[in-house]
Amino acid sequence: MAAVTSNSTAVMADAAIGYKEDSKSIQKVDGETFIQEDVHAKAGDVILDLGCGTGELSALLAKLVEPKGKVVGVDPDKERILLAQKSHKQIPNLSFQEGSDSTFPGIGSETYDIIFSNHVLHWIPNKQRAFDNMHKALRQGGKIAMQYGDHYPLFTLQAYKILNPENEARICEMLNYEPRTKVEKCCTSAGFTILKSCDCEFQFAFESIDGLLKWLRSITHGVFDLSLVTEDRLEKYLALYSDKDGKPCLDFRGASEHSTHSLLIAVKDNGTVAK
Ligand SMILES: C[S@@+](CC[C@H](N)C(=O)[O-])C[C@H]1O[C@@H](n2cnc3c(N)ncnc32)[C@H](O)[C@@H]1O
Repeated sequence: MAAVTSNSTAVMADAAIGYKEDSKSIQKVDGETFIQEDVHAKAGDVILDLGCGTGELSALLAKLVEPKGKVVGVDPDKERILLAQKSHKQIPNLSFQEGSDSTFPGIGSETYDIIFSNHVLHWIPNKQRAFDNMHKALRQGGKIAMQYGDHYPLFTLQAYKILNPENEARICEMLNYEPRTKVEKCCTSAGFTILKSCDCEFQFAFESIDGLLKWLRSITHGVFDLSLVTEDRLEKYLALYSDKDGKPCLDFRGASEHSTHSLLIAVKDNGTVAK
């Protein structure tokens, strides 16, 4: 069973609602830019959104490929899938199902035009298997388009350590950051040709400590426990991220230790990628 499905249903359901809310501001804007600038989905494409979360970006992709194209969103978090199904049920060419990088529909089918995967790879423990499965699911000339974290943003590591020491190990076990060179190696070993591999713009800024804490809870599927964040712990954490007047500074944009995301576009074989 995937690590993300190991929390209680009530906690995960609540975290999924939080994730959907947070996605609107942080993940969605960044994902939309990625789709517009790099993914080049077109009418008629068949797309897998691997690790779709609550499906906001799957819905955007479904619009781009309509009327004949379709999008399948897959995620191991059952509560996120339930929410995705409920919120996007009016979109005819979009469906969602529970699954993961090793169980998604269409492995071996060589049918997808695009496998889109936004901020998911750092959750996947066996990246070689994931790339192999994606390769087996794409048609010749099909492509993968992904953004992923290649190492921890420092402010999250510090938060797990200082604010949730009881759960730090469990959270870090769920995450599987690997350097870009290793990811590229898995990608080419699976048979892909890399078209683009570079830093991506995804960076973090929070308006309040409350917003940051809720985000940490939702991205960790509820494992980051707000009830463990005592006043003392919070004071210790904020001492790291405050300005000289003691005001919290939670805008991490532009700081290299917090900018940790990469972008990868790769094509199956040497086929021509339709733009
Ligand atoms: C940061 S969220 C990104 C969600 C969505 N792609 C977006 O951009 O809003 C990462 C997602 O990856 C999913 N995930 C974790 N492990 C996975 C796996 N092995 N295969 C596929 N998805 C996985 C999580 O459940 C989570 O919803």
